[in-house]
Order: sequence, then structure tokens, then C-alpha cells
Amino acid sequence: MGTDSGQIDTVMQETRLFPPSAEFAAQSRIGSLAAYQKLYDQAKSNPVAFWEELARKELHWFKPFERGLVWEEPLAQWFVGGQTNACYNCVDVHLASEKRNKAAFIWEGEPGDTRTLTYQQLHREVCKFANVLKGLGVKQGDRVSIYMPMVPELAIAMLACARVGAIHSVVFGGFSAEAVADRNNDAQAILQITADGGYRRGKNLPLKETVDAALAKSPSVKNCIVLRRTGSTVTMQEGRDHWWHELMDRASADCPAEPVDSENSLFILYTSGSTGKPKGIRHTTAGYTLFAKKTFEWVFDYRDDDLFWCTADCGWVTGHSYIVYGPLAAGATVLMYEGAPNWPAEDRFWDIVEKYRVTVLYTAPTAIRAFIKWGDHHVDKHDLSSLRLLGSVGEGINPEAWMWYHRKIGGGRCPIVDTWWQTETGGIMMSPLPGAIATKPGSCTKPLPGVIPEILDDDGKPVPANHGGCLVMSHPWPGMLRGIWGDDKRYQEQYWSKFPHRYLAGDNARIDDDGYYWIMGRIDDVINVSGHRLSTIEVESALVSHPCVAEAAAVGRPDELKGQAVSVFVTLKSGTADDSLREELRKHVRKEIGALAQPDDIRFTGALPKTRSGKIMRRLLRDIAAGKESVGDTTTLEDYTVLAKLRSDEE
Ligand code: PRX
Repeated sequence: MGTDSGQIDTVMQETRLFPPSAEFAAQSRIGSLAAYQKLYDQAKSNPVAFWEELARKELHWFKPFERGLVWEEPLAQWFVGGQTNACYNCVDVHLASEKRNKAAFIWEGEPGDTRTLTYQQLHREVCKFANVLKGLGVKQGDRVSIYMPMVPELAIAMLACARVGAIHSVVFGGFSAEAVADRNNDAQAILQITADGGYRRGKNLPLKETVDAALAKSPSVKNCIVLRRTGSTVTMQEGRDHWWHELMDRASADCPAEPVDSENSLFILYTSGSTGKPKGIRHTTAGYTLFAKKTFEWVFDYRDDDLFWCTADCGWVTGHSYIVYGPLAAGATVLMYEGAPNWPAEDRFWDIVEKYRVTVLYTAPTAIRAFIKWGDHHVDKHDLSSLRLLGSVGEGINPEAWMWYHRKIGGGRCPIVDTWWQTETGGIMMSPLPGAIATKPGSCTKPLPGVIPEILDDDGKPVPANHGGCLVMSHPWPGMLRGIWGDDKRYQEQYWSKFPHRYLAGDNARIDDDGYYWIMGRIDDVINVSGHRLSTIEVESALVSHPCVAEAAAVGRPDELKGQAVSVFVTLKSGTADDSLREELRKHVRKEIGALAQPDDIRFTGALPKTRSGKIMRRLLRDIAAGKESVGDTTTLEDYTVLAKLRSDEE
């Protein structure tokens, strides 16, 4: 306990347990705890052999690999000597089977337009676009920057890059010109792919305009391909800019996939470091594709007749792994939606679920909390009986939000897979296997087969049950990052220097008496009250369990007596923001998790500052709580006005 060891005190008491129904278990791929345990133990006893066997079986090889793993810490190489192609594994492999005519993508645009692409049709589009890339001189190893709305062409562009062995860097369509230029320059991209615009909450996002400003500062980019999506007027720069449809009209549909080495880079994806410049996380071909495919099949208990909807944007790793590479490698049908969840009304998601009869829904806690705030009547209007499984990713899910998701969206019958992973891990690392592992609200339960986590104190010793510590991985896995683009030193320092031979995830976690993992938040966010280290998520979950609270963020602020005091920011779904509610919330937290975690300051706010992918930015709130100006990077902040509003509330 206390500050020295690096351990975190847990105050959360969550004892509800939800075993899979006998019916669900009977139909699932891994249908019992014993079956999971057997697979897990087998993988743990020899992880390399485990992954080698899967790689042989699950991927198409132009040339078989010779060695499963070459581990020169911190650089892993998987399936060395082999040649494969990620696009071939996602598209071509299905053409010889009955999947040829199955929908790969069912897409809905925000205005309500729809398109379906079978695997055969996807193949044709990808081949043509791969020829377009070649025609513009794109070769294996070149970097291609993609800044597009959520339309099928975004996936086509990613797959076409993979087909020719080029490396894509997808930049989320909400980022600024500055952010696009920074990423283009860091990656030294030679080609930009964009659209004239995209739809978001009924408005036209002027993507091409942003790209024009970005390209003025991205000298390495020689060509720009522009998809016509909204029909809005754009300026096309002679010699540099080309219309997608014009290039495609002239392109041949014959373009065999390029065999590439297993360790050929597949993509770079930039994630924001908490301070400083964004990191280009590098993933490679064979290991990543295998990991995305198998984790997709295991966690979402994939069945051929599923309609899988991951609501993430392809600008995030969730979109890479669970809209494109994982589901397509498995031959699944993916639903892709372009726009906002509250356009034209707050029931858009439920309308889509009902209309297409979605079976598996994978979304984020930030969305779930918004749905709760918007009210049950939006959900009640729709028939959600097609759903059989629900997923959550991106942040910890507060137990009360979990319960709402379970009851209201899942009708009490759908298991929830709370999936813990990171851009760096390439795919899901910890999650219930829904037919095998009973769930507990707020816990990501157990590691997947072939994933070997530990929780360590600051001395590198495993912490006892129910003590929080640093979450690490003790063995390389195929989906792991292969480094930070152009910055080996930062890679080594950030992930491999705190503990010898261990990958540092940067999160705190604990294991309970049943061997279940509970993520407690980022290491940097721990609140230290009188030597007791508290987890942000536990304090927040206690607040969210009050009926008036929609969202909460807990941070530490300096306090002369206690070291740090607990300062919380709360958004309400009902009730009045006044002192009596403040007092009630204080009492509520005290009752739920004890006096130690009782907030010292409670601020009510209309919204919390979040990243564009929906994570609460506690770092900024810490500065506000301490009455300081923020010094760190704020370029990933979704809405600057939220921060300004919070500051002005201070004055
Ligand atoms: O802190 C954890 C949190 O999100 C971080 C990874 O963020 P990113 O690289 O953007 O990837 C998000 C999509 C995989 C983690 O270090 N996180 C993600 N999933 C969970 C989570 N925290 C708690 N529970 C989760 N299920």
C-alpha cells in the first residue's frame, strides 16, 4: 500500500456476475470456461508454437515462414521468412468459396443513402484502385496518407495500399490541417487520398479544403486523389489533384496482390502522446492480420450469418482492426455508417440496428453514456431483438453504464464483451469470450489465448490479488507494435524501460479473487490522497451510479494536508446543479466506496473535454482543478469551447 510500492488501493465493490446463457454457450465457438482455460494454458505453455500453428492454418502464404518469432528486444519479428499479403487474406481468399457473393460491407451514409459491396465487388474495386496507386508511382514501402469520411472507398483505399505493399496512414477526418500536415511530414507520405467532403450532423465537412491547407505544408506529397462524396465545389490543383472516379474509369481490374514479407509495414497510425508530438505506431503484415482475425473470431464469437457493426471510425485502430482487417479476414459482413449517432435524431443507431437487423454491436463508453443521457424513449421506439452480442472499447465502462447497456440495448439477453486493448497492441488483449466467461460489470475479465499479462509494483514484483499496479505484457504477441515510426529511442523508453523484458501498457489494473482483470485508468492519472493511491475509474463509477449523473471525471489537485485532494467534474442527466446535490453526491460516494474517495470539490459542467475518439482528457482537467494553464498538447481535444467554458466557470 501507499506511495512507494506503486500499488493502487482498490475501493470498488462490484459483485454482480452474469454467466452466458446455456443457449448462447451451446452455439458459441468456445462454449465453456474449461474450454477457454484449456486453450489459454496450451497457448501459455508455448506461445510461439501456438501462434505458429494458427498462422499456418489461418493465413494464406505465398511463401511459408521459417521461424515463428525472432525476438531481439524490443523488436519482435513474427513469421520470419514468409511472404503473404493482408489484402489477399481479406478479399481474395473468399473468392473461391461461397463467400464470393456475400456482402463484405453494408454501408449507410448519414443522409440515408446505402450501398452494399460483395467480396467479389470489393475485390474489383480494390484491384482497380491498386492499379490507380501504381499509376501514380506508389511502390512497396511508400507511405500514403488517407483523410476521408467513413465511406466504403476509405476501406478500399486501405486495402489497395496493402495490396501493393504500400503503408497507409489514416488520419481521422475531424483533425485539423495542422495535424494532417504534421503526420504527413513525420511519415514522409507521397500521396494524399481525400474527398470533396463528408457528412457530419447534417453539415458538410470541407475535407478537401483542409487537405489543401495541409498540403501547402507537406512537401513530400506529390499527388492527391479526391473522391466525390458531397458534390461540393472544390479547387483542384492542376498536376497534383486527381478525381478518384476519373482515375478509376481508366484503371484495369487486373492487379494480383504483391507477395510481401511478413514484417513488411502494413500501416502507421498516429496516437496522441499525453504531451509532445503524436507517435506513429507501426504495425506489420502477417502478425497483425492474424491477430486481428483471430481476436475478432474469438471475442465476437463470429458466425457466418452475423451482421457486425463496429461504430468506430477507420481513423482509429478500432476501425482498422474491427471494421477492415479482422472481420474481412474472417469473411464477415460489416456494417459501416458514415455519420453521427444523433442525426437526424438521437435514435439513429437504433434505427440502423432495426433496419439491417444487426447482430453484434461494438461501441464505446462515451457513446453509451450519451445514449443514457438522451433518454430511453429513443431506444424504446425500435426493435433491437436481432442483437445477440454487445461490445465496448476505448475507456473503462462504468458498471452502471454497463447495466444500462445490458438491460436496455441487450434486452438482458446479450453478453457484453468489455475489450481492453490499445493502438499499440493491434487487437483485443483482454475480454470475455462471451460463451465461456461470466461477465462482471466494469471488468474486461481475462486475457485472450496467447496473451500473457502481469500486474507489477514499482519494484517489478507481481502485486497480490485486489491490489492495483502496472499492467505489463510478459511475452511478445503477433499484433504488437513494431515501434514508433522514425523514433526507436522513444519506443524503447516508453514501453520497455520501466521493467526489464516487459511491455509497459501505461495502465493500472488489478486482478480480483477470481482472476478477473479490472483496468483502473492511466498510470499518470492516479490520485494520491494521504498516501493512498486511488483509481480515477473507481471514483467516477461511484458517481455515475447516482441517478442524476451522466458522466464524471475524477482528478487529483494539490492539497497541503493530504498531498492530493479529489476533484471531480460532473455532467448531469437530471437534478439541479446546486449545493444540495453536491452534498448528496459526496454522501453517495462515501457510501459506495468510502470516505477516502469522497470528492473534495465537485464542479458541475455541461460537457467534459474529450479526445476526438471520445476519451475524457483528465490531464486538462487536472490543470483546471489546480488553477493552472494547460501546458500539454491540446491538438487532439474534440471541442475547444468545452475547455474555455470550464475555465470561465472558474473565474
Ligand atoms: O487506458 C486504456 C483505454 O484506452 C487506452 C488505449 O487507447 P487507444 O490506443 O486509443 O486505443 C483505444 C482502442 C483500443 C488503454 O491504454 N482503454 C481501452 N479499452 C479499455 C480501456 N480502458 C478500460 N477498459 C477498456 N475496455
